[in-house]
Amino acid sequence: MDILTSKCAILTGASHGIGPYIARTLASRGINLALAARSGAELEAVAESLGDTVKVLVVPTDLNDASQRQNLVIRTRQEFGRVDILINNAGLEEIIPFEEQRSEMIPSIINTNVIAPMLLTHEVLPPMLARGEGAIVNVASLAGRTGMPFGAVYSGSKGALAEWSISLHAELFGRGVSVSAVCPGFVSDEGMHARKGTPAPRSLGEVSPQAVADAVLLALETGHPEILVSSRPIRLLMALRALAPRAALAFARRSGLINYLKKLASANKKNHGD
Ligand SMILES: NC(=O)c1ccc[n+]([C@@H]2O[C@H](COP(=O)([O-])OP(=O)(O)OC[C@H]3O[C@@H](n4cnc5c(N)ncnc54)[C@H](OP(=O)(O)O)[C@@H]3O)[C@@H](O)[C@H]2O)c1
Repeated sequence: MDILTSKCAILTGASHGIGPYIARTLASRGINLALAARSGAELEAVAESLGDTVKVLVVPTDLNDASQRQNLVIRTRQEFGRVDILINNAGLEEIIPFEEQRSEMIPSIINTNVIAPMLLTHEVLPPMLARGEGAIVNVASLAGRTGMPFGAVYSGSKGALAEWSISLHAELFGRGVSVSAVCPGFVSDEGMHARKGTPAPRSLGEVSPQAVADAVLLALETGHPEILVSSRPIRLLMALRALAPRAALAFARRSGLINYLKKLASANKKNHGD
């Protein structure tokens, strides 16, 4: 029998974007799901789209609220008896020059992308360790592995999420609980990047939301510490950045990345009426 069948996963950020792709992919492997995000109506629609292949629990949750986070874990344990898998997928991004970012956005981004995943993991981990079985998957970003101008706070938050994830993977090694960081590049069709309506230049490439969902599944199957989801040889850029940061920056300029993000940031300023 498939080892994932009848496991139970909490999936955050399940209401729209990449989350529904992850939900469908996990359901196709027989994983029961607790779906979390703030918009209950959207979660219900995702749950309905899954049919009755697996058990699905919808828990409208603001992950930045401690009591709502605890409620998510309690409701999941009541429904399924335990939490086998936690997918920290919810995220918040803003592409804007740092000096023009509203100050209140800084804690919002850090809380959603770093603090909430850490605290949710802190909540579900002890019983996993007691059973010697479990998996945590953190959806970070290539922005957190390569740096992303005009999205510096987002990039810093995803870097923190990825480094925490890789550190925890090493800390828990041999105790039966895997911790993986899935790091996608620009995602086409759905989600925070696609909504901007300006596709990334061909030189940078995009990946599909299904490729991200497949990477989450791969993380569950292999327990790999870090999975990069990119249509380009991104590890080369990461290696270049480690060995020669100035050369990596020059490459980022030549590839069109910095100009592209600058354009997105200025379109975002116009949308805000600035
Ligand atoms: N799209 C990309 O190009 C891309 C690339 C690399 C990494 N990623 C990462 O992939 C993940 C999913 O991104 P996406 O593109 O699907 O983004 P999205 O379309 O903006 O969806 C974000 C999800 O997070 C939920 N969320 C945000 N704040 C929340 C909060 N305080 N409490 C509970 N839920 C919250 C949203 O639901 P509600 O609004 O209903 O609460 C939604 O379900 C994120 O972590 C993102 O950083 C995306």
